[in-house]
Amino acid sequence: MKRILVLGSTGSVGKQTLDVLSGLQETHQVVGLSAHTSVDALASQARDVSAEAVCLTGAEATNELRRDIQRLPPGCRLLEGADGLVELVESTQPDVVVCSITGAAGLRSSLAAASSGAVVALANKESLVLAGHLIKEACARSGSVLIPVDSEHSAIAQCLEGQDRNGLRRIILTASGGPFRGWDSAALASVTVEQALKHPSWEMGPRITVDSATLMNKGLEVIEACHLFDVSQDKVDVVVHPQSIVHSMVEYVDGALLAQLSPPDMRLPIRYALGYPARLSSPEGPADLNRLNGLTFESPDRETFRCLSLAERAAREGGLAGTILNAANEIAVEAFLAGRLPFQEIPDVVQDALDTFPSQLDPGLQSILETDAAVRTHSTSILQPSR
Ligand SMILES: NC(=O)c1ccc[n+]([C@@H]2O[C@H](COP(=O)([O-])OP(=O)(O)OC[C@H]3O[C@@H](n4cnc5c(N)ncnc54)[C@H](OP(=O)(O)O)[C@@H]3O)[C@@H](O)[C@H]2O)c1
Repeated sequence: MKRILVLGSTGSVGKQTLDVLSGLQETHQVVGLSAHTSVDALASQARDVSAEAVCLTGAEATNELRRDIQRLPPGCRLLEGADGLVELVESTQPDVVVCSITGAAGLRSSLAAASSGAVVALANKESLVLAGHLIKEACARSGSVLIPVDSEHSAIAQCLEGQDRNGLRRIILTASGGPFRGWDSAALASVTVEQALKHPSWEMGPRITVDSATLMNKGLEVIEACHLFDVSQDKVDVVVHPQSIVHSMVEYVDGALLAQLSPPDMRLPIRYALGYPARLSSPEGPADLNRLNGLTFESPDRETFRCLSLAERAAREGGLAGTILNAANEIAVEAFLAGRLPFQEIPDVVQDALDTFPSQLDPGLQSILETDAAVRTHSTSILQPSR
């Protein structure tokens, strides 16, 4: 039995992970779960899998569940807060930790997972954007293996497997282009929250859905790819592929392009990470090749979707630039979702932060956390409450 810990189990990736795991009960046992404020969903998941321990990071939510502790299965421990997440990783002795918390809030638990010796199935790309070097150092010390859950990086990892890395010419990340592909700046000026939350091919949490609409998600993925595959930014290209069938490609020096294709469904990269290094069979039948015709590729519009260029700049600068970029973006997206910032001004907030805060190479965790907090305060202060 593999012992599985799912951090962020009430989110989009977390729920799909539990869905995959429900078909693997003979080989995989879910030992722990976490959520921020979704008390009902977490308690119900904990009963379904007979969890040994759960963690809630929201203080009010924890108090609510503590008052009604019998909602958890018998013997299930309730941990609390960011420290509780780390304790959950350290105390449940997992074989695989699925890191599917959203945003920089996932960093400390991802680091704990990387220090645990377990396989780290990493959906939380922000951990790498902020502290890729620390995550990789922790893995090297503990023997943890990092398996990306992002479909693009899962595809790339599969295309790199068993190949001569000296022969790598470039990595090509595919992007759906989001709901506003082909729009110009004037059209983007009137984008509503509802429009931005309607992704053409993926159903995801609100933050990453908006990031997909601005192309910031692809930019974060460029930084993620640089860390995961030890390449510089100039070796990572982005191509828009609206059908989301080719999940990314790798080009070798002899001109060979290797790609991984499948319908857009996160359960494939999740299953790959849960089974690694084995391939687990999927309940879906063979791919319908008729659905794979009409694949198209085009260049991204970096002038209109400036977040992509800003993230590429952060990837080149390295050090704290990823932390600065991500913190400002999280604040800007939160303000957009709350109706306090126009869609088109999200890149302005990010650029302001990158121009204001100096980067620093090889920052330690303390410096990353302090910069994350300082950028959040700064970016919040430049947003007018009346907007
Ligand atoms: N969704 C996808 O298809 C997809 C694909 C590739 C990569 N990813 C990456 O996977 C991660 C998760 O994305 P998602 O779409 O699944 O997000 P989501 O649906 O918003 O779920 C986020 C999860 O994290 C928890 N959470 C939120 N804020 C937290 C905090 N401050 N501290 C601790 N836990 C917190 C949430 O708990 P509550 O339910 O209590 O709020 C929930 O369980 C992101 O890094 C994203 O970029 C997602």
